[in-house]
Amino acid sequence: MKNIVVLVSGGGTNLQALIDAQERGELRGGKITCVISSKPDAYALKRAKAHDISTRIVPRKHYPDNASYSKALHEALFEEYADLIVLAGFMTILDKRIIQAFRNKIINVHPSLIPSFCGDGFYGLHVHEKVLERGVKLTGATVHFVTEVCDGGPIILQKAVEVQDNDTPEILQRRVMEQAEWKILPEAVSLFCEDRLTVIGDRAYIDHKEEQTQ
Ligand code: GAR
Repeated sequence: MKNIVVLVSGGGTNLQALIDAQERGELRGGKITCVISSKPDAYALKRAKAHDISTRIVPRKHYPDNASYSKALHEALFEEYADLIVLAGFMTILDKRIIQAFRNKIINVHPSLIPSFCGDGFYGLHVHEKVLERGVKLTGATVHFVTEVCDGGPIILQKAVEVQDNDTPEILQRRVMEQAEWKILPEAVSLFCEDRLTVIGDRAYIDHKEEQTQ
């Protein structure tokens, strides 16, 4: 059983999707063992506590820079024996210390179809504002491995979502979450925990063997 540590900063609806999947028995091969928040008041912490999942707070504000923050976070992840780290609305960019220590063991959910609307400055609601400004007809979500390149790691799963003419950023964000993020994040976590993901170069490959034999 792999130890899944989920990093959060906010509302935690993606964490909730993982908890719900776990309770339905859909996180095969893994268990959420700890939720770590960069913000003491993140609602995600309440969600974890409501399901008896242990929580830790490593507050970003207590550290002068990303390097010292990453050192503290690294220690916490080490103490938690993390096999898989899930960034679920975690709003701090990890430095190379953690990325190297947990190579191909950190996954992130991003609210667009990467490589569109991603990289520095594209997070949370801003992504959906930019999508509406540009007028694209399709957006969606991506789950990918985290590398040193912001939003640039191997893509595990993507799902497209339609943009509608009268969308506001908030309405679009909700649709992307409901139709894409909350589905593909638990699915990707399950694939990882069942050892069905392989990274070769810049690409992640899914082992579909099990589905074919069913
Ligand atoms: C989600 O839409 C997630 O994809 C996004 O923040 C939101 C967090 O919501 N993450 C990023 O933009 C990371 N670049 P949640 O706290 O309710 O899961």
